Amino acid sequence: MSMQAKWERLLSQLPRAGSLEFWRELNPDLSISDHPFQVPRPTPQPASALLDSYRERMEEEAYFQTEPILPPDMLASMRKAIESVKEAGLPAMFAFVYDIFYQGLTHFDAAFTAVLGENYRLVPNFAVYYIEPSDQGKGFAPHRDAEYLNALDEQGMPTVMTVWITVTEASPLNSCLYIVPKNRDPQYADSVKDLSVTADAFAWEDVRALPTPPGVMSCWSQYLFHWGSRASRRAQDPRITYAVYLQSGKVEPVAEQTVAVPAALGFTERLSMICRSLRHNNYATFAGWERSEELLAFLDRHTL
Ligand SMILES: [Fe+2]
Repeated sequence: MSMQAKWERLLSQLPRAGSLEFWRELNPDLSISDHPFQVPRPTPQPASALLDSYRERMEEEAYFQTEPILPPDMLASMRKAIESVKEAGLPAMFAFVYDIFYQGLTHFDAAFTAVLGENYRLVPNFAVYYIEPSDQGKGFAPHRDAEYLNALDEQGMPTVMTVWITVTEASPLNSCLYIVPKNRDPQYADSVKDLSVTADAFAWEDVRALPTPPGVMSCWSQYLFHWGSRASRRAQDPRITYAVYLQSGKVEPVAEQTVAVPAALGFTERLSMICRSLRHNNYATFAGWERSEELLAFLDRHTL
């Protein structure tokens, strides 16, 4: 389908995206409740030594990854939800209407608390990545997230953190993360104080590939240099991940409409967070399109 045709389809579908009934009919098996962070069976609390190792790695390398803990049936439902949204002609990010993506976060609550402390908050900065298993598929070009200055506490823990959860395996063949650990990046410290600092002084051998099984939470600071690599047509499966920002409750909210976790978060509030995220993360892709006002009007209408 051409880009033009995709946009036409998106605009024709868009009015339905504001209706809770549409989402319920699209995935009758998936809940949209007012308490999306509640899980039927909470994950057992990880050993304190493991949580200590997360903090240690965050301090030393500015990122860490958990064990694969999301259950296969949950991952299968997440994949189905994301694919159904795409098939409906809507941006995959709308999958965040479903509870399951917030329940997925809850499974990593202990890791989040270890870094951010109690009362951490969800920031309306969401993303869903669906990298096709083709030579055209690729993740984001090398960058630091770098939206906030000095987003670190006295212990060196981030006060704003990027959280990235694998729904399918991320491999070097279907696009995975590549990073330069903080302690191998000579410009890391400068980038904390100046968001324009790039990364061009590290050694190639210090680049680390992060092939990641499904159901793992990866997280990093605002300043970690990273990218999503090029996929290959020889890959078997798409690389599907979802991402959010979390922030510490100890600092002022970094954006409008952050919410305490766990929070009551109904459909209207969720839709608003999705619309904010679409504007924040995807504005550049649709701003140049001739009918972008129609999309922007939808986003405005549903942003609280
Ligand atoms: Fe990033």
